[in-house]
Amino acid sequence: MKITIIGAGNVGTALARGWAKAGHEISIGVRDVDTFKDKDLLRDKNISVENIPGAIERGAVIVLSVPPGAVPSLVKYLKGAAEKIIIDPTNAFRSGLEGFETAFDALRNLTECKHIVKAFNNTGFENMANPGGLDTFVAGDSERAKEVVRQLAKDLGFANCYDFGGSDKAGLLEQLGLCWINLALMQSMGRNIAINVLKR
Ligand SMILES: NC(=O)c1ccc[n+]([C@@H]2O[C@H](COP(=O)([O-])OP(=O)(O)OC[C@H]3O[C@@H](n4cnc5c(N)ncnc54)[C@H](OP(=O)(O)O)[C@@H]3O)[C@@H](O)[C@H]2O)c1
Repeated sequence: MKITIIGAGNVGTALARGWAKAGHEISIGVRDVDTFKDKDLLRDKNISVENIPGAIERGAVIVLSVPPGAVPSLVKYLKGAAEKIIIDPTNAFRSGLEGFETAFDALRNLTECKHIVKAFNNTGFENMANPGGLDTFVAGDSERAKEVVRQLAKDLGFANCYDFGGSDKAGLLEQLGLCWINLALMQSMGRNIAINVLKR
């Protein structure tokens, strides 16, 4: 699958490496290709880097792994992306965004995209790079997008990707991400913890 990842930070590079390893074609969209530093990432033949409009054009799935406050500035690039799957992994932790509670709300209000989901926000990037045995979640109204995310979670190595509900549950899923941050960072449990579903 052709996957575009906007933002080559902690989350973007963890997802890029994991999906490239599973055989997906990854295009990383950055603000300035010339100053892109992570040349090591490009040793993987399945990963390329380009400018943001070019990367968005290429992908069937677009992951916005940027600070939530940056999401409204990316809306202009999503004009031709109504049918593409848009994944929002953001958590408004250190920085929020003006006018909306979440980046997911901003995307729903400011774009025509029909397949927006919240996913890959409930754990740290280190866990995303090594998710064996861990659970993850997806929220949104598009069944097609959820099906694709479930497969992509499996391709990364997550044990389960549970349906967290519709778009009305995206904010709650973000809160789950903030719960992980609270336990891992504020309560000093460490970034190697994860929130899993235990069935008894
Ligand atoms: N870190 C985690 O463990 C974790 C876990 C779950 C969810 N998340 C969420 O995932 C998102 C990314 O987190 P991260 O840790 O990967 O952040 P990060 O390491 O700081 O990387 C953020 C990336 O976004 C890019 N960026 C910033 N503003 C941009 C803009 N206006 N247009 C295009 N690109 C822009 C940055 O590019 P430049 O280099 O050009 O500045 C950078 O590559 C955040 O929303 C965070 O809440 C993080």
